[in-house]
Amino acid sequence: MKKPITAAITGVGGYVPDYILDNEELSRMVDTSDEWIMTRIGIKTRHILKGDGIGTSYMGIRAVRELLDKTGTDPAEIEVVICATVTPDMSFPSTANLISYKCGIMNAFAFDISAACSGFLFALHTGARYIESGSKKVIVIGADKMSSIVNYKDRSTSPIFGDGAGAVLLEPSTDGYGVLDSDLHSDGGGFIHLHMKGGGSAYPASKETIKKGWHYIYQEGQPVFKAAVSKMAESAQEVMERNELTSDDIRYLVPHQANKRIIDATARRMGLSAAKCMLNIQRYGNTTAATIPLCLWDYESRLKRGDNLILAAFGGGYTWGALYLKWAYDGNLPTQCPAVPALDEE
Ligand code: UT7
Repeated sequence: MKKPITAAITGVGGYVPDYILDNEELSRMVDTSDEWIMTRIGIKTRHILKGDGIGTSYMGIRAVRELLDKTGTDPAEIEVVICATVTPDMSFPSTANLISYKCGIMNAFAFDISAACSGFLFALHTGARYIESGSKKVIVIGADKMSSIVNYKDRSTSPIFGDGAGAVLLEPSTDGYGVLDSDLHSDGGGFIHLHMKGGGSAYPASKETIKKGWHYIYQEGQPVFKAAVSKMAESAQEVMERNELTSDDIRYLVPHQANKRIIDATARRMGLSAAKCMLNIQRYGNTTAATIPLCLWDYESRLKRGDNLILAAFGGGYTWGALYLKWAYDGNLPTQCPAVPALDEE
């Protein structure tokens, strides 16, 4: 009997900008403190992309180039590129298109997915469907330059967010590795608590929208917090039950990094110890679509072929969900001789 095709992650790349904004510097910008941020959110530092005319694609390009390099992949072989982001370089073309161009990926079709903090999960699910239906190499990116939409005069949102990008390569497996199940949800009613009102077709940029601060993130922390705690855990538990997984079967929970208290509550409800929970919020903050691939990037060396991972996220939309993934290789991939052409900085 023909074995079913699943979409295995066969490599991971990542990038965070050099500039580090720590809690001390932030405390000089808004009325906050290291103690408050560490207790309520669990963030010490976030990386910020500086420079005029440099957007999310700058980070995505670097993550994808590292990915192509590590996996020894010829960019010409890539068939699909999907980028999850809420901070595209511009309304169009898509950021995936710009990243592909700069990475020498000329034979793929490329598009963006907008699902805020759940963006990478939605994009990974979509990428897996292309592999299952016959594509051989698909790249899925999560990338956000959150500093471009954060109001650094607002203490309720400015400590939370950072910039970064992560990317994975998907290839077919007939041995049962890769994306095995996903449970994804959207509820547009949640938009009221978390959104950015200006800059789209409803409220294009004007003096008025700028004056009203509509080009910044608007978040009502508490309702979002409550929904995140319940929905992320519900979805993760649903995926565990459907696949008859107990907490002993799971090597790692890979949670969206929005707030350490949300992550701890989700892990507790899944019966997982802190050691089984990927965590890098203290260094990067909430990088929106990039948090989950950046976790995989940071923990790659500790992962082994056959490890069961549950990825879970909640974010703007509302959007949320969980995904069950069986890891396909052991440890860090060695850097290979890059097939990627040199980066033209122009
Ligand atoms: O990734 C997308 C999805 N987003 C999330 O998952 C975020 C979910 N929400 C949260 O993580 C939390 O609600 C926040 C981190 C945003 C806020 O934490 P909180 O524990 O819910 O605080 P709060 O908004 O209830 O504020 C408590 C107090 C208030 O003061 P009073 O009214 O009690 O005197 C705030 O004014 O803390 C004050 N406060 C601050 N104090 C110092 C709010 N922000 C700060 C700050 N520094 N940065």
